Amino acid sequence: MGFSKNFLWGGALSANQCEGAVNVGGKGLSSSDVTTRGSRTKMRTITYKTKEGNIEEVMSYRVKVPEGAQFGCFEGYDYPSHEAIDFYHHYKEDIALLGEMGFKTLRTSINWTRIYPTGMEETPNEEGLKFYDNLFDECAKYGIKPLVTLSHYETPIGLTNAWGSWVDERNIECFTRYVKTVAERYKGKVEYWLTFNELNISQMVPFMEGGVYASDPKSLAYSAKHQLIASAKAVQILHEIDPNNKVGNMIAYGYNYANTPNPVDGLKVIMANRESYFFFDVQARGYYPNYKLIEYKNDGIDFILTEEEKEILKNGTVDFLSFSYYQSNVISADPNIAHDAKGNMSFHGVKNPYLPVSEWGWSIDPTGLRCALNALWDKYQKPLFLVENGLGAEDILNEDKTVHDSYRIEYLREHIKAMKQAIEEDGVDLMGYTPWGCLDLVSASTGEMHKRYGFIYVDCQDDGTGDGSRYKKDSFNWYKKVIASIGEDLD
Ligand code: BG6
Repeated sequence: MGFSKNFLWGGALSANQCEGAVNVGGKGLSSSDVTTRGSRTKMRTITYKTKEGNIEEVMSYRVKVPEGAQFGCFEGYDYPSHEAIDFYHHYKEDIALLGEMGFKTLRTSINWTRIYPTGMEETPNEEGLKFYDNLFDECAKYGIKPLVTLSHYETPIGLTNAWGSWVDERNIECFTRYVKTVAERYKGKVEYWLTFNELNISQMVPFMEGGVYASDPKSLAYSAKHQLIASAKAVQILHEIDPNNKVGNMIAYGYNYANTPNPVDGLKVIMANRESYFFFDVQARGYYPNYKLIEYKNDGIDFILTEEEKEILKNGTVDFLSFSYYQSNVISADPNIAHDAKGNMSFHGVKNPYLPVSEWGWSIDPTGLRCALNALWDKYQKPLFLVENGLGAEDILNEDKTVHDSYRIEYLREHIKAMKQAIEEDGVDLMGYTPWGCLDLVSASTGEMHKRYGFIYVDCQDDGTGDGSRYKKDSFNWYKKVIASIGEDLD
């Protein structure tokens, strides 16, 4: 059995992390474009102008700014999305390389700000639309089906400055206008769509996910609601415009283990799971789960869901469930244990003594992937699509332009084995696999270039050096063989 011959092998990118060309073709600024480069030890910041005219920066995690702040880009700051790997000008050569590897699909996003620069225009920007026409046409030459994310950390900053982005329901109309535009334009060229990238991140890093700078519980609840409604409307629009369209959600999913058999740790796992299940629940089943409504009530949040909104959610469930899986987490009910944990940047911060970690402290756990696939399949019974996974590592480009990334091959091999077991032995319905950053690109969490995931080394460095040349890593030929053998030859 194993992987079916229709299995969608490929890789994943996002526009803001690879395209660059920030001021080209009438593009507007997005949330990523006002975010500076960080490092493994220095958090990224967001820049803005105060109403008194001073330029300030603020940590990107939970962004707090004085009233009247206007986000933007200013001299003297280093914004990695502005150049990225200049995929905008290199896409032909890049797609040719992905085609050579035998990709069946390429996941990338449409940068909303290339189509509607501030998010609020009545008519779209033709030059932006044309760029993605060219990109999808290029993919078609190699038989690569695009898998398009509608919003991948690229909310127009115009919407943030106008009304705080997704906290305000006016964002829904702007988003659906954009969705209609791209659904009509790319009908017949794009069949697979994802609505919001890692929507659950909206509750942890709201600015990065959706350009939201408020972080009080009520604003986060409404930001989630407006995006869930926008996602459901997007599903309906995409289905209406082309019944062949298949639409998925996208959630950051790290499998959670209890730190001890103490029942309070077990209960804590259930609570932690809800951080991602809440979004799966609404997008897969079409209604708010009881636990979330009770939580809002207990937190004193005045949360309203009208009958009309309930109807939209019900009619906008996704066709498949997609998620990112990089690592698993360990959950403890004991705040001291969680607090003391070091060396593992997992969401919940407890180190797992059974697992190695990456250079960035992310645990490496292929068995956790098999657990994750089973958990999602058992719970929802909808086809799954693993749209992000991979090892961010520091690669060395040798003088002869080779990169020996055996560590990456090892990571991917073990994760593919886990997928195969989940399909063969557990009966999970998995439709595809797009490892993250198939071309090296800018890291979302740190803004670094030297946290590399790709099969293809891109000579762009954090200090601005590098000529942008592309070089095949050892993993390039390995993955090519994996695809050609439909996941059988993993050596
Ligand atoms: C996911 C995002 O969270 O993880 C990507 O969807 C991101 O945009 C990826 O790049 C890997 O994270 P990082 O921080 O290593 O780039």
